[in-house]
Amino acid sequence: MTMRVYVSRDAGAVAVGADKVALVLGLAASKHGLDIEIVRTGSRGLYWLEPMVEVATPQGRIAFGPVTEFNANSVLDAMISGSPHPLRLGVADEIPWLKRQTRLTFARCGVIDPRALADYRAHGGYKGLERALTLGSDDILADVTASGLRGRGGAGFPTGIKWKTVAQASADRKFIVCNADEGDSGTFADRMIIEGDPFVVIEGMTIASIAVGASKGYIYIRSEYPHAVGAMNAAITAAKRGGTLGARIGGSNHSFDLEVRVGAGAYVCGEETSLLESLEGRRGIVRAKPPLPAHKGLFGKPTVINNVLSFAAIPFILAGGAKAYADYGMGRSRGTMPIQLAGNIRHGGLFETAFGITLGELVDDVGGGTFTGRPVRAVQVGGPLGAYFPRELFDTPFDYEAFAARDGLIGHGGIVVFDDSVDMAKQARFAMEFCAVESCGKCTPCRIGSTRGVETIDKIRRSERVAENLAVVEDLCNTMKFGSLCALGGFTPYPVMSALKHFREDFGPAPTRLEAAE
Ligand SMILES: Cc1cc2nc3c(=O)[nH]c(=O)nc-3n(C[C@H](O)[C@H](O)[C@H](O)COP(=O)(O)O)c2cc1C
Ligand code: SF4
Repeated sequence: MTMRVYVSRDAGAVAVGADKVALVLGLAASKHGLDIEIVRTGSRGLYWLEPMVEVATPQGRIAFGPVTEFNANSVLDAMISGSPHPLRLGVADEIPWLKRQTRLTFARCGVIDPRALADYRAHGGYKGLERALTLGSDDILADVTASGLRGRGGAGFPTGIKWKTVAQASADRKFIVCNADEGDSGTFADRMIIEGDPFVVIEGMTIASIAVGASKGYIYIRSEYPHAVGAMNAAITAAKRGGTLGARIGGSNHSFDLEVRVGAGAYVCGEETSLLESLEGRRGIVRAKPPLPAHKGLFGKPTVINNVLSFAAIPFILAGGAKAYADYGMGRSRGTMPIQLAGNIRHGGLFETAFGITLGELVDDVGGGTFTGRPVRAVQVGGPLGAYFPRELFDTPFDYEAFAARDGLIGHGGIVVFDDSVDMAKQARFAMEFCAVESCGKCTPCRIGSTRGVETIDKIRRSERVAENLAVVEDLCNTMKFGSLCALGGFTPYPVMSALKHFREDFGPAPTRLEAAE
């Protein structure tokens, strides 16, 4: 009987040697005349255990990790004999870190071959689309609205309302655009799902096209994600061949075509109107709203633009029912959030769970504290525009409103952990510098304010007229917050002001914490 071995082809696993491990396993198997099939999957998201290798057994898939090209031979021996091995992790689905999760969106990621349509179908794929094809637009919109799904790209806008606006707009053409620019620091969920389960994103976009009456879609993937681009292109080709994409989908009257576009390499190109400019072949500069993209988006036509994770949540909602999704979560944050644990953390990776888990549980319990073993001092949630939270705020539940109430945001669900060696004045400076570098330049508070912010924080760090310059920073932050055209300038004050509020001791008057330690 063929022995089936699974090795991740996720960029994170490949970066730590997964390709070499697959090669060594294949060579060893042929040397010993073993009947073996190596399936390249996505990642399960336990990045500290990558390359993680699994073997199919009657008890389920047995996992080993982290495997290297040097110990792959002994792992293969243990797979064949079933004997103990120091890297044996047991049945993959029973690993506590995985078992604790509620994987609705990432259910198949790390499990299936991302290039095999049949594998996707065998694991429940396309059930949502099949149902959507039997429903009218109104019923799909009702389901998406009832699920309570809010955009996972950052703003948390209700997806059902967005889709309804596009559905109600009259135009000769409408578009579906998937935002896979994923520029937030510490985030990788979009990349992971595109590399590990691209069909779920395609299925979600196809359902959106039925709901609003669109016939063409684009997936805008950042240029730094070549593996994701490859996986998505392969999946689009497979879906077209399989009749789930293209003309007359599944024998219906609905046609939908999809293309990948590679991003232009700017953080601001993730902002939806800037992305549309870039898609149209122009420089990524933010458009003033209104008009909303839902009314006048790509090429001036009504456009649904959603994050990868928003589209990827749709197939479950259509297949499993809106209520099944909405039953998870707290308050107005319904369903699950694929949370990304990054930075100085012991157990970094993808942890999908219902909204409501606290920041402390995520950092201390799930993440296991810092990688360096030093105390956690600060956590930035929601990317470079997110606030820094100190340990005193670790009781904050992962929920859009709870974070907003504490001047923070959950954004795209990225958590970046810092230990007690962090200099928060430096981090505040970095936030301003990031804004200055990435600003599209359209509005003054962001373009000029961020550069003045860098200069002023530099003065504070040199202990020059600290009190006066702190007042200037605060003033600048207010101007940027209330006067910027988009959230790049408008939210940069969050990391800056949170660093000032919670870590005031790092800003002088003199000396700063680090200077004192030297
Ligand atoms: C500077 C900036 C960068 C952004 N980057 C991204 C991004 O990389 N991915 C994303 O999905 N949304 C990003 N957004 C949010 C988008 O503008 C938009 O809200 C989102 O794509 C809508 O999809 P959703 O409703 O599914 O979240 C960014 C916003 C701003 C202001
Ligand atoms: S806030 Fe910054 S990025 Fe946004 S429109 Fe203004 S200049 Fe451009």
